[in-house]
Amino acid sequence: MYDENGQRYLDCINNVAHVGHCHPDVVKAGAEQMGLLNTNTRFLHDNLVLYAQRLQATLPDKLSVCYFVNSGSEANDLALRLAWQFTGNKDIITLENAYHGHVSSLIDISPYKFHQLSDAEQSQFVHVAPSPDVYRGKYRADRPDAAAAYADEVKDIIEKVHIKGHKIAAFIAESLQSCGGQVIPPVGYFQQVAEHVRKAGGVFIADEVQVGFGRVGSRFWAFQLQGDDFVPDIVTMGKPIGNGHPMSCVVTTREVAEAFLSSGMEYLNEYFGGNPVSCAVGLAVLDVIEKEDLQGNALRVGQYLTNVLEKQKEKHPLIGDIRGRGLFVGVELVKDRVKLTPATAEAQEVIYKLKEQHVLLSADGPHRNVLKFKPPLCFTTEDADLVVEKLDPILTGICLLAAAVLRMRSEVSCCYFLHSRAGGSVRLPKFNAKDICCTQTHSIQTSPGYGRLLKQYQLP
Ligand SMILES: Cc1ncc(COP(=O)(O)O)c(C=O)c1O
Repeated sequence: MYDENGQRYLDCINNVAHVGHCHPDVVKAGAEQMGLLNTNTRFLHDNLVLYAQRLQATLPDKLSVCYFVNSGSEANDLALRLAWQFTGNKDIITLENAYHGHVSSLIDISPYKFHQLSDAEQSQFVHVAPSPDVYRGKYRADRPDAAAAYADEVKDIIEKVHIKGHKIAAFIAESLQSCGGQVIPPVGYFQQVAEHVRKAGGVFIADEVQVGFGRVGSRFWAFQLQGDDFVPDIVTMGKPIGNGHPMSCVVTTREVAEAFLSSGMEYLNEYFGGNPVSCAVGLAVLDVIEKEDLQGNALRVGQYLTNVLEKQKEKHPLIGDIRGRGLFVGVELVKDRVKLTPATAEAQEVIYKLKEQHVLLSADGPHRNVLKFKPPLCFTTEDADLVVEKLDPILTGICLLAAAVLRMRSEVSCCYFLHSRAGGSVRLPKFNAKDICCTQTHSIQTSPGYGRLLKQYQLP
Protein backbone atom coordinates (compact mmCIF):
# COMPACT_ATOMS: atom_id res chain seq x y z
CA MET A 1 0.00 0.00 0.00
CA TYR A 2 1.09 3.59 -0.56
CA ASP A 3 0.07 6.68 1.38
CA GLU A 4 -0.67 10.09 -0.13
CA ASN A 5 3.07 10.88 -0.20
CA GLY A 6 3.95 7.71 -2.05
CA GLN A 7 5.35 6.04 1.09
CA ARG A 8 5.20 2.26 0.75
CA TYR A 9 3.62 0.15 3.53
CA LEU A 10 3.64 -3.59 4.00
CA ASP A 11 0.02 -4.62 4.63
CA CYS A 12 -0.21 -7.58 7.02
CA ILE A 13 -3.86 -7.12 7.95
CA ASN A 14 -6.04 -6.47 4.96
CA ASN A 15 -8.10 -9.58 4.40
CA VAL A 16 -10.49 -7.64 2.18
CA ALA A 17 -7.92 -6.99 -0.55
CA HIS A 18 -7.68 -10.76 -0.69
CA VAL A 19 -5.82 -11.21 -3.99
CA GLY A 20 -3.86 -7.96 -3.63
CA HIS A 21 -4.81 -4.29 -3.66
CA CYS A 22 -6.24 -3.13 -7.00
CA HIS A 23 -5.45 -6.44 -8.70
CA PRO A 24 -5.49 -5.53 -12.42
CA ASP A 25 -7.61 -8.56 -13.43
CA VAL A 26 -10.28 -7.69 -10.87
CA VAL A 27 -10.26 -3.99 -11.76
CA LYS A 28 -10.50 -4.84 -15.47
CA ALA A 29 -13.37 -7.30 -15.00
CA GLY A 30 -15.38 -4.80 -12.95
CA ALA A 31 -14.69 -1.88 -15.31
CA GLU A 32 -15.51 -3.90 -18.42
CA GLN A 33 -18.80 -5.12 -17.03
CA MET A 34 -19.66 -1.65 -15.81
CA GLY A 35 -19.07 -0.35 -19.34
CA LEU A 36 -21.34 -3.03 -20.75
CA LEU A 37 -24.28 -3.38 -18.41
CA ASN A 38 -25.18 -3.13 -14.77
CA THR A 39 -28.74 -3.78 -13.81
CA ASN A 40 -30.86 -5.13 -11.03
CA THR A 41 -31.38 -8.85 -10.73
CA ARG A 42 -34.98 -8.79 -11.88
CA PHE A 43 -33.24 -9.43 -15.19
CA LEU A 44 -31.38 -12.69 -14.87
CA HIS A 45 -27.81 -12.22 -16.09
CA ASP A 46 -25.33 -14.97 -17.02
CA ASN A 47 -22.79 -13.64 -14.51
CA LEU A 48 -25.10 -14.46 -11.62
CA VAL A 49 -25.59 -18.06 -12.73
CA LEU A 50 -21.92 -18.53 -13.63
CA TYR A 51 -20.80 -17.16 -10.29
CA ALA A 52 -23.23 -19.33 -8.31
CA GLN A 53 -21.97 -22.40 -10.20
CA ARG A 54 -18.30 -21.54 -9.63
CA LEU A 55 -18.88 -20.86 -5.94
CA GLN A 56 -20.88 -24.00 -5.45
CA ALA A 57 -18.08 -26.09 -6.96
CA THR A 58 -15.88 -25.08 -4.00
CA LEU A 59 -18.45 -26.23 -1.43
CA PRO A 60 -19.88 -29.57 -0.29
CA ASP A 61 -22.76 -30.67 -2.59
CA LYS A 62 -25.36 -30.17 0.12
CA LEU A 63 -24.73 -26.43 0.13
CA SER A 64 -26.44 -25.68 -3.14
CA VAL A 65 -28.55 -22.53 -2.85
CA CYS A 66 -26.95 -19.06 -2.98
CA TYR A 67 -28.40 -15.70 -1.96
CA PHE A 68 -26.42 -12.67 -3.05
CA VAL A 69 -26.16 -9.64 -0.79
CA ASN A 70 -23.81 -6.69 -0.35
CA SER A 71 -21.95 -6.98 2.95
CA GLY A 72 -21.00 -9.49 5.61
CA SER A 73 -23.60 -7.96 7.92
CA GLU A 74 -26.34 -8.43 5.35
CA ALA A 75 -25.24 -12.03 4.87
CA ASN A 76 -25.38 -12.82 8.59
CA ASP A 77 -28.69 -11.03 9.03
CA LEU A 78 -30.17 -13.12 6.23
CA ALA A 79 -28.66 -16.27 7.76
CA LEU A 80 -30.57 -15.53 10.97
CA ARG A 81 -33.81 -15.06 9.03
CA LEU A 82 -33.25 -18.40 7.27
CA ALA A 83 -32.61 -20.13 10.59
CA TRP A 84 -35.65 -18.58 12.27
CA GLN A 85 -37.91 -19.48 9.37
CA PHE A 86 -36.56 -23.03 8.91
CA THR A 87 -36.67 -24.00 12.58
CA GLY A 88 -39.58 -21.93 13.83
CA ASN A 89 -37.40 -21.26 16.88
CA LYS A 90 -35.94 -18.01 18.15
CA ASP A 91 -32.87 -18.46 20.35
CA ILE A 92 -29.32 -18.11 19.08
CA ILE A 93 -26.10 -19.44 20.60
CA THR A 94 -23.02 -17.40 19.85
CA LEU A 95 -19.41 -17.50 21.05
CA GLU A 96 -17.67 -15.31 23.60
CA ASN A 97 -15.88 -12.36 21.92
CA ALA A 98 -17.60 -13.04 18.59
CA TYR A 99 -18.24 -10.31 16.05
CA HIS A 100 -20.75 -10.91 13.25
CA GLY A 101 -21.61 -7.46 11.94
CA HIS A 102 -22.81 -3.96 12.59
CA VAL A 103 -26.60 -4.08 12.13
CA SER A 104 -28.84 -4.34 15.18
CA SER A 105 -29.69 -8.04 14.75
CA LEU A 106 -25.96 -8.79 14.74
CA ILE A 107 -24.93 -6.51 17.57
CA ASP A 108 -27.37 -8.70 19.56
CA ILE A 109 -25.26 -11.79 18.78
CA SER A 110 -21.82 -10.12 18.93
CA PRO A 111 -20.38 -10.16 22.48
CA TYR A 112 -17.36 -8.30 21.08
CA LYS A 113 -19.77 -5.35 20.87
CA PHE A 114 -22.62 -6.04 23.25
CA HIS A 115 -20.45 -6.68 26.30
CA GLN A 116 -20.50 -2.89 26.63
CA LEU A 117 -24.28 -2.94 27.12
CA SER A 118 -26.07 -3.50 30.41
CA ASP A 119 -27.79 -6.87 31.01
CA ALA A 120 -31.17 -5.24 30.44
CA GLU A 121 -30.10 -4.10 26.97
CA GLN A 122 -28.90 -7.56 25.91
CA SER A 123 -31.25 -9.87 24.08
CA GLN A 124 -32.90 -12.58 26.18
CA PHE A 125 -32.82 -14.86 23.14
CA VAL A 126 -29.04 -14.86 22.79
CA HIS A 127 -26.78 -17.19 24.74
CA VAL A 128 -23.02 -17.07 24.88
CA ALA A 129 -20.86 -20.20 24.83
CA PRO A 130 -17.17 -20.17 25.83
CA SER A 131 -14.75 -19.46 23.02
CA PRO A 132 -13.02 -22.75 22.08
CA ASP A 133 -9.64 -21.21 22.81
CA VAL A 134 -7.21 -23.92 23.87
CA TYR A 135 -4.51 -21.41 24.89
CA ARG A 136 -6.30 -19.11 27.32
CA GLY A 137 -9.86 -20.47 27.40
CA LYS A 138 -11.74 -22.63 29.89
CA TYR A 139 -10.30 -25.90 28.50
CA ARG A 140 -6.74 -25.83 27.27
CA ALA A 141 -4.42 -27.82 25.03
CA ASP A 142 -3.43 -30.12 27.89
CA ARG A 143 -6.98 -31.51 27.83
CA PRO A 144 -7.19 -34.24 25.23
CA ASP A 145 -10.99 -33.91 25.12
CA ALA A 146 -11.08 -30.11 24.77
CA ALA A 147 -13.37 -30.33 21.71
CA ALA A 148 -15.94 -32.41 23.61
CA ALA A 149 -15.63 -30.24 26.73
CA TYR A 150 -16.35 -27.07 24.75
CA ALA A 151 -19.18 -28.76 22.84
CA ASP A 152 -20.69 -29.93 26.14
CA GLU A 153 -20.85 -26.28 27.21
CA VAL A 154 -23.13 -25.71 24.22
CA LYS A 155 -25.19 -28.72 25.20
CA ASP A 156 -25.58 -27.29 28.73
CA ILE A 157 -26.76 -23.99 27.29
CA ILE A 158 -29.34 -25.81 25.17
CA GLU A 159 -30.65 -27.61 28.27
CA LYS A 160 -30.96 -24.32 30.18
CA VAL A 161 -32.72 -22.70 27.22
CA HIS A 162 -35.24 -25.56 27.19
CA ILE A 163 -35.85 -25.15 30.92
CA LYS A 164 -36.74 -21.50 30.23
CA GLY A 165 -39.26 -22.73 27.65
CA HIS A 166 -37.25 -21.38 24.71
CA LYS A 167 -35.94 -23.26 21.66
CA ILE A 168 -32.72 -23.03 19.69
CA ALA A 169 -32.82 -21.68 16.14
CA ALA A 170 -29.08 -21.59 15.48
CA PHE A 171 -25.53 -21.79 16.68
CA ILE A 172 -23.36 -19.26 14.86
CA ALA A 173 -19.55 -19.12 14.87
CA GLU A 174 -16.73 -17.91 12.71
CA SER A 175 -14.93 -20.98 11.44
CA LEU A 176 -11.83 -19.46 13.07
CA GLN A 177 -12.50 -16.56 15.44
CA SER A 178 -10.71 -13.43 14.29
CA CYS A 179 -11.74 -10.40 16.38
CA GLY A 180 -12.04 -12.91 19.22
CA GLY A 181 -8.22 -13.36 19.15
CA GLN A 182 -7.28 -15.60 16.20
CA VAL A 183 -8.75 -18.68 17.85
CA ILE A 184 -8.41 -22.11 16.21
CA PRO A 185 -11.13 -24.43 17.56
CA PRO A 186 -10.02 -27.99 18.31
CA VAL A 187 -10.89 -30.49 15.58
CA GLY A 188 -14.18 -32.23 16.26
CA TYR A 189 -15.71 -29.28 18.08
CA PHE A 190 -18.00 -28.21 15.23
CA GLN A 191 -19.19 -31.76 14.57
CA GLN A 192 -20.17 -32.23 18.21
CA VAL A 193 -21.78 -28.80 18.50
CA ALA A 194 -23.73 -29.44 15.29
CA GLU A 195 -24.99 -32.72 16.71
CA HIS A 196 -26.27 -31.06 19.90
CA VAL A 197 -27.76 -28.11 18.04
CA ARG A 198 -29.49 -30.16 15.34
CA LYS A 199 -30.89 -32.52 17.96
CA ALA A 200 -32.45 -29.46 19.57
CA GLY A 201 -33.98 -28.44 16.23
CA GLY A 202 -31.45 -25.72 15.38
CA VAL A 203 -29.02 -25.15 12.53
CA PHE A 204 -25.28 -24.47 12.34
CA ILE A 205 -24.19 -21.20 10.72
CA ALA A 206 -20.51 -20.90 9.77
CA ASP A 207 -19.36 -17.30 9.31
CA GLU A 208 -16.57 -17.30 6.72
CA VAL A 209 -16.65 -13.53 6.21
CA GLN A 210 -13.03 -13.15 7.33
CA VAL A 211 -11.49 -16.57 6.85
CA GLY A 212 -12.92 -18.03 3.64
CA PHE A 213 -11.65 -18.22 0.04
CA GLY A 214 -8.41 -20.14 0.54
CA ARG A 215 -6.89 -18.10 3.37
CA VAL A 216 -6.30 -21.15 5.57
CA GLY A 217 -4.19 -22.78 2.86
CA SER A 218 -4.92 -26.46 3.21
CA ARG A 219 -8.64 -25.99 2.42
CA PHE A 220 -10.72 -23.43 0.56
CA TRP A 221 -13.12 -22.94 3.48
CA ALA A 222 -12.01 -22.70 7.09
CA PHE A 223 -14.89 -24.87 8.35
CA GLN A 224 -13.34 -27.72 6.30
CA LEU A 225 -10.38 -27.74 8.71
CA GLN A 226 -12.70 -29.61 11.09
CA GLY A 227 -12.85 -32.55 8.65
CA ASP A 228 -14.92 -33.71 5.69
CA ASP A 229 -17.56 -35.11 8.01
CA PHE A 230 -18.61 -31.60 8.95
CA VAL A 231 -20.96 -29.54 6.77
CA PRO A 232 -22.68 -26.43 8.15
CA ASP A 233 -26.34 -25.76 7.31
CA ILE A 234 -25.63 -22.17 6.33
CA VAL A 235 -22.37 -20.48 5.31
CA THR A 236 -21.98 -16.70 5.14
CA MET A 237 -19.31 -14.94 3.09
CA GLY A 238 -18.12 -11.37 2.57
CA LYS A 239 -14.97 -9.25 2.53
CA PRO A 240 -12.54 -11.27 0.34
CA ILE A 241 -15.29 -12.35 -2.05
CA GLY A 242 -15.09 -9.06 -4.01
CA ASN A 243 -11.53 -7.97 -3.13
CA GLY A 244 -12.99 -4.75 -1.71
CA HIS A 245 -16.05 -4.53 -3.95
CA PRO A 246 -19.23 -4.63 -1.82
CA MET A 247 -20.47 -8.14 -2.45
CA SER A 248 -21.37 -11.06 -0.22
CA CYS A 249 -23.25 -14.30 -0.22
CA VAL A 250 -25.20 -16.77 1.90
CA VAL A 251 -25.16 -20.42 0.86
CA THR A 252 -27.48 -23.01 2.33
CA THR A 253 -29.19 -26.33 1.74
CA ARG A 254 -32.24 -26.86 -0.43
CA GLU A 255 -34.36 -27.73 2.65
CA VAL A 256 -33.54 -24.47 4.42
CA ALA A 257 -34.12 -22.46 1.23
CA GLU A 258 -37.46 -24.16 0.57
CA ALA A 259 -38.65 -23.43 4.10
CA PHE A 260 -37.71 -19.80 3.58
CA LEU A 261 -39.55 -19.67 0.28
CA SER A 262 -42.63 -21.27 1.80
CA SER A 263 -42.96 -18.40 4.25
CA GLY A 264 -44.47 -16.51 1.36
CA MET A 265 -42.24 -13.60 2.24
CA GLU A 266 -40.49 -12.95 -1.03
CA TYR A 267 -36.74 -12.49 -0.75
CA LEU A 268 -36.35 -8.98 -2.07
CA ASN A 269 -32.78 -7.86 -2.69
CA GLU A 270 -32.88 -7.40 -6.40
CA TYR A 271 -31.24 -4.04 -6.85
CA PHE A 272 -27.64 -4.62 -5.82
CA GLY A 273 -27.22 -8.19 -4.54
CA GLY A 274 -25.76 -10.32 -7.35
CA ASN A 275 -25.69 -7.54 -9.95
CA PRO A 276 -23.64 -8.27 -13.11
CA VAL A 277 -20.72 -6.05 -12.04
CA SER A 278 -20.43 -7.65 -8.59
CA CYS A 279 -20.57 -11.12 -10.11
CA ALA A 280 -17.93 -10.19 -12.73
CA VAL A 281 -15.70 -9.00 -9.90
CA GLY A 282 -16.40 -12.17 -7.90
CA LEU A 283 -15.57 -14.36 -10.90
CA ALA A 284 -12.30 -12.48 -11.45
CA VAL A 285 -11.37 -13.00 -7.77
CA LEU A 286 -11.96 -16.75 -8.10
CA ASP A 287 -9.91 -16.78 -11.34
CA VAL A 288 -6.98 -15.00 -9.70
CA ILE A 289 -7.02 -17.31 -6.67
CA GLU A 290 -6.80 -20.23 -9.09
CA LYS A 291 -4.40 -18.76 -11.65
CA GLU A 292 -1.91 -17.50 -9.07
CA ASP A 293 -2.37 -20.49 -6.78
CA LEU A 294 -3.05 -18.14 -3.87
CA GLN A 295 -4.45 -20.91 -1.71
CA GLY A 296 -1.17 -22.81 -2.17
CA ASN A 297 0.73 -19.59 -1.48
CA ALA A 298 -1.26 -19.11 1.75
CA LEU A 299 -0.25 -22.60 2.82
CA ARG A 300 3.46 -22.20 1.97
CA VAL A 301 3.98 -18.61 3.12
CA GLY A 302 1.75 -19.14 6.16
CA GLN A 303 3.93 -22.07 7.21
CA TYR A 304 7.08 -20.03 6.61
CA LEU A 305 5.70 -17.10 8.62
CA THR A 306 4.74 -19.41 11.48
CA ASN A 307 8.24 -20.93 11.47
CA VAL A 308 10.05 -17.60 11.61
CA LEU A 309 7.68 -16.40 14.32
CA GLU A 310 8.36 -19.59 16.31
CA LYS A 311 12.04 -18.62 16.31
CA GLN A 312 11.03 -15.25 17.74
CA LYS A 313 9.09 -17.07 20.43
CA GLU A 314 12.28 -18.90 21.47
CA LYS A 315 14.01 -15.56 21.81
CA HIS A 316 11.32 -13.36 23.35
CA PRO A 317 9.46 -14.48 26.49
CA LEU A 318 6.80 -11.88 25.64
CA ILE A 319 5.48 -14.23 22.96
CA GLY A 320 3.21 -16.69 24.70
CA ASP A 321 1.60 -18.45 21.76
CA ILE A 322 1.72 -18.63 18.00
CA ARG A 323 -1.26 -20.18 16.29
CA GLY A 324 -2.53 -20.14 12.79
CA ARG A 325 -3.60 -21.84 9.62
CA GLY A 326 -2.29 -20.56 6.31
CA LEU A 327 -2.20 -16.78 6.23
CA PHE A 328 -4.36 -16.46 9.32
CA VAL A 329 -1.90 -16.27 12.20
CA GLY A 330 -2.10 -14.96 15.76
CA VAL A 331 0.79 -14.07 18.05
CA GLU A 332 -0.39 -13.76 21.63
CA LEU A 333 1.76 -11.51 23.83
CA VAL A 334 1.89 -12.23 27.55
CA LYS A 335 3.85 -10.81 30.45
CA ASP A 336 4.07 -14.19 32.08
CA ARG A 337 3.94 -17.50 30.24
CA VAL A 338 2.51 -19.34 33.23
CA LYS A 339 -0.10 -16.85 34.39
CA LEU A 340 -0.77 -15.74 30.79
CA THR A 341 -1.05 -12.11 31.95
CA PRO A 342 -2.03 -10.27 28.74
CA ALA A 343 0.64 -7.89 27.44
CA THR A 344 -1.87 -5.37 26.13
CA ALA A 345 0.21 -2.19 26.21
CA GLU A 346 3.14 -4.09 24.73
CA ALA A 347 0.99 -5.27 21.83
CA GLN A 348 -0.10 -1.68 21.18
CA GLU A 349 3.53 -0.61 21.32
CA VAL A 350 4.46 -3.23 18.73
CA ILE A 351 1.70 -2.03 16.40
CA TYR A 352 2.70 1.59 16.88
CA LYS A 353 6.41 0.95 16.30
CA LEU A 354 5.78 -1.21 13.24
CA LYS A 355 3.59 1.49 11.74
CA GLU A 356 6.42 3.99 12.22
CA GLN A 357 8.47 1.57 10.14
CA HIS A 358 5.75 1.26 7.50
CA VAL A 359 4.42 -2.15 8.44
CA LEU A 360 0.69 -2.42 9.14
CA LEU A 361 -0.36 -4.96 11.75
CA SER A 362 -3.18 -4.94 14.31
CA ALA A 363 -3.91 -6.39 17.74
CA ASP A 364 -7.20 -7.94 18.81
CA GLY A 365 -8.83 -10.45 21.13
CA PRO A 366 -10.62 -9.65 24.40
CA HIS A 367 -7.37 -8.28 25.87
CA ARG A 368 -6.17 -6.68 22.62
CA ASN A 369 -2.91 -8.58 23.06
CA VAL A 370 -3.01 -10.86 20.02
CA LEU A 371 -1.09 -9.64 16.97
CA LYS A 372 -3.19 -10.50 13.94
CA PHE A 373 -1.67 -11.52 10.64
CA LYS A 374 -4.25 -11.77 7.85
CA PRO A 375 -2.55 -10.21 4.83
CA PRO A 376 -3.61 -10.31 1.19
CA LEU A 377 -2.87 -13.83 -0.08
CA CYS A 378 -0.09 -12.60 -2.37
CA PHE A 379 2.08 -12.11 0.75
CA THR A 380 5.57 -13.51 0.14
CA THR A 381 8.31 -15.12 2.23
CA GLU A 382 10.29 -11.88 1.73
CA ASP A 383 7.38 -9.95 3.24
CA ALA A 384 7.35 -12.39 6.18
CA ASP A 385 11.10 -11.85 6.66
CA LEU A 386 10.69 -8.08 6.50
CA VAL A 387 8.02 -7.92 9.17
CA VAL A 388 9.90 -10.28 11.48
CA GLU A 389 13.14 -8.38 10.94
CA LYS A 390 11.36 -5.25 12.20
CA LEU A 391 9.46 -7.04 14.95
CA ASP A 392 12.58 -8.55 16.52
CA PRO A 393 14.27 -5.32 17.75
CA ILE A 394 10.91 -3.92 18.88
CA LEU A 395 10.35 -6.96 21.10
CA THR A 396 13.95 -6.66 22.32
CA GLY A 397 13.32 -3.02 23.22
CA ILE A 398 10.16 -3.90 25.12
CA CYS A 399 11.93 -6.72 27.02
CA LEU A 400 14.74 -4.38 27.86
CA LEU A 401 12.32 -1.81 29.15
CA ALA A 402 10.38 -4.35 31.19
CA ALA A 403 13.60 -5.66 32.72
CA ALA A 404 14.73 -2.12 33.43
CA VAL A 405 11.47 -1.34 35.16
CA LEU A 406 11.66 -4.47 37.28
CA ARG A 407 15.18 -3.62 38.28
CA MET A 408 14.29 -0.04 39.01
CA ARG A 409 11.66 -1.19 41.39
CA SER A 410 14.32 -2.83 43.54
CA GLU A 411 17.09 -0.27 43.17
CA VAL A 412 17.41 3.33 44.15
CA SER A 413 19.49 4.14 41.09
CA CYS A 414 16.45 4.68 38.97
CA CYS A 415 16.78 8.42 38.63
CA TYR A 416 18.37 8.18 35.18
CA PHE A 417 15.37 6.45 33.86
CA LEU A 418 12.71 8.61 35.42
CA HIS A 419 14.36 11.60 33.85
CA SER A 420 13.76 10.00 30.51
CA ARG A 421 10.00 10.42 30.81
CA ALA A 422 10.53 13.87 29.38
CA GLY A 423 11.86 12.28 26.18
CA GLY A 424 15.27 11.88 24.57
CA SER A 425 17.64 9.00 24.94
CA VAL A 426 18.23 7.23 28.20
CA ARG A 427 21.27 5.66 29.69
CA LEU A 428 20.31 2.91 32.02
CA PRO A 429 22.45 2.13 35.02
CA LYS A 430 24.63 -0.97 35.05
CA PHE A 431 22.68 -4.08 34.31
CA ASN A 432 23.37 -7.63 34.96
CA ALA A 433 22.97 -9.13 31.51
CA LYS A 434 21.09 -12.08 32.99
CA ASP A 435 18.33 -9.74 34.14
CA ILE A 436 17.65 -8.58 30.65
CA CYS A 437 16.55 -11.20 28.28
CA CYS A 438 17.72 -9.76 25.00
CA THR A 439 20.07 -6.92 25.60
CA GLN A 440 23.12 -6.06 23.59
CA THR A 441 22.98 -2.43 24.63
CA HIS A 442 22.07 -0.49 27.72
CA SER A 443 20.81 2.46 25.82
CA ILE A 444 17.21 2.86 24.67
CA GLN A 445 15.16 5.59 23.07
CA THR A 446 12.00 6.81 24.72
CA SER A 447 8.85 7.44 22.77
CA PRO A 448 5.22 8.17 23.64
CA GLY A 449 4.67 4.43 23.41
CA TYR A 450 7.29 3.70 26.06
CA GLY A 451 5.72 6.45 28.11
CA ARG A 452 2.45 4.54 27.96
CA LEU A 453 4.24 1.36 28.94
CA LEU A 454 5.86 3.02 31.94
CA LYS A 455 2.44 4.16 33.02
CA GLN A 456 1.29 0.59 32.88
CA TYR A 457 4.13 -0.42 35.16
CA GLN A 458 2.84 2.28 37.50
CA LEU A 459 5.98 4.32 37.68
CA PRO A 460 5.52 7.94 38.70
C1 LIG B 1 -16.62 -12.39 11.11
C2 LIG B 1 -17.34 -11.22 10.55
N1 LIG B 1 -18.62 -11.38 10.17
C3 LIG B 1 -19.31 -10.36 9.65
C4 LIG B 1 -18.75 -9.11 9.50
C5 LIG B 1 -19.54 -7.98 8.93
O1 LIG B 1 -19.14 -7.71 7.64
P1 LIG B 1 -19.39 -6.25 6.99
O2 LIG B 1 -18.50 -5.31 7.71
O3 LIG B 1 -19.04 -6.46 5.54
O4 LIG B 1 -20.83 -5.91 7.17
C6 LIG B 1 -17.42 -8.92 9.87
C7 LIG B 1 -16.79 -7.59 9.71
O5 LIG B 1 -15.73 -7.30 10.20
C8 LIG B 1 -16.69 -10.00 10.41
O6 LIG B 1 -15.43 -9.86 10.81
